[in-house]
Amino acid sequence: MNARETIIKIIGSRQHTPTHKTITTFAPVNIALIKYWGKRDNPLNLPVTNSLSIALPTKGTTTTIRINHTTHDAYWLNGEPVDKNSEFFNRLHHFCDLFRFHPSYHFDIDTKNNIPTAAGLASSASGFAALTLAFNQLFRLSLEKPQLSILARLGSGSACRSLWEGCVEWEKGQREDGLDSFAHPYEVTPSFLNSIGVGLLIFAKEKKKMSSRDAMLATVQTSPLYSQWPKQVEQDLTDIKIAISQHNFVRFGEIAEKNALAMHHTMLMSQPSINYCDASTHHYREKIWSLRKSKFPIYFTQDAGPNIKLLFQKENLSAVKEAFPEAEIVFLT
Ligand code: PMV
Repeated sequence: MNARETIIKIIGSRQHTPTHKTITTFAPVNIALIKYWGKRDNPLNLPVTNSLSIALPTKGTTTTIRINHTTHDAYWLNGEPVDKNSEFFNRLHHFCDLFRFHPSYHFDIDTKNNIPTAAGLASSASGFAALTLAFNQLFRLSLEKPQLSILARLGSGSACRSLWEGCVEWEKGQREDGLDSFAHPYEVTPSFLNSIGVGLLIFAKEKKKMSSRDAMLATVQTSPLYSQWPKQVEQDLTDIKIAISQHNFVRFGEIAEKNALAMHHTMLMSQPSINYCDASTHHYREKIWSLRKSKFPIYFTQDAGPNIKLLFQKENLSAVKEAFPEAEIVFLT
């Protein structure tokens, strides 16, 4: 099974006549509390485990697409043309090929992120989710969210969680064709979701040194700790769901932080070692631990990059702002 076969199965006999209008869509960034790290199928981005995320409703990607009536695609990222020789261009082109229902179709795609691109801030997740929504409208496919989630997953695994706001779970699925591997909203009482703040500490804005795709593959293949990871995720998922149901922020933060640390520790043990942390990452981790000990509950999570995302309760907002004036604060609702 490959990505083209997936799209054929999803779209089936639906009409896919393009509209000649310009389509604009938005998809939010999602931050995993329980991480996706490792694939059971690489081309289809099928994960080894489930994962759970929260969306940042005001942060994400806005994508504009139109059919361009020339002989090639043209892509812009944050106002700049995307270099045809770059890995990003290839990745985008490959994804667009899935929707090139006729060889004469070529696309102008203008994509804008209001968060740094490829610095471990999930911009590829919101990017591929926004692009999937755009193709759905461009070709008037009228696909449902679970089907769009499967298609977004083909661009970037975590993109399948960026189609909803709030808390979202991605089911790993069992099938080889991946048609049961998509995300869905995970219900959280609005007052609990409302009480949580996220602080973005974006000190490293440059592109990450190793893609999450390559790093995941290397971790699965070479880390002696990887065999523990699926058990860890299963336990953390069970525990965080209990914490969510009990509105227990302290447990919620503890589990999210532990899961992020376990992911980084697992990849650190790869051969050669994969280390996304820099001196600022360590500085902020220490600061968070010390604040937690002496002042108020504050936790962090970290993805495939050095940047840190703070998790705290709204009631401590002024203390967070005082301790981290450089943080960009985002609420979940
Ligand atoms: O979807 P990808 O290939 O960008 O991988 C995302 C990996 C993490 O952000 C580290 C974890 C996650 O679940 O989002």
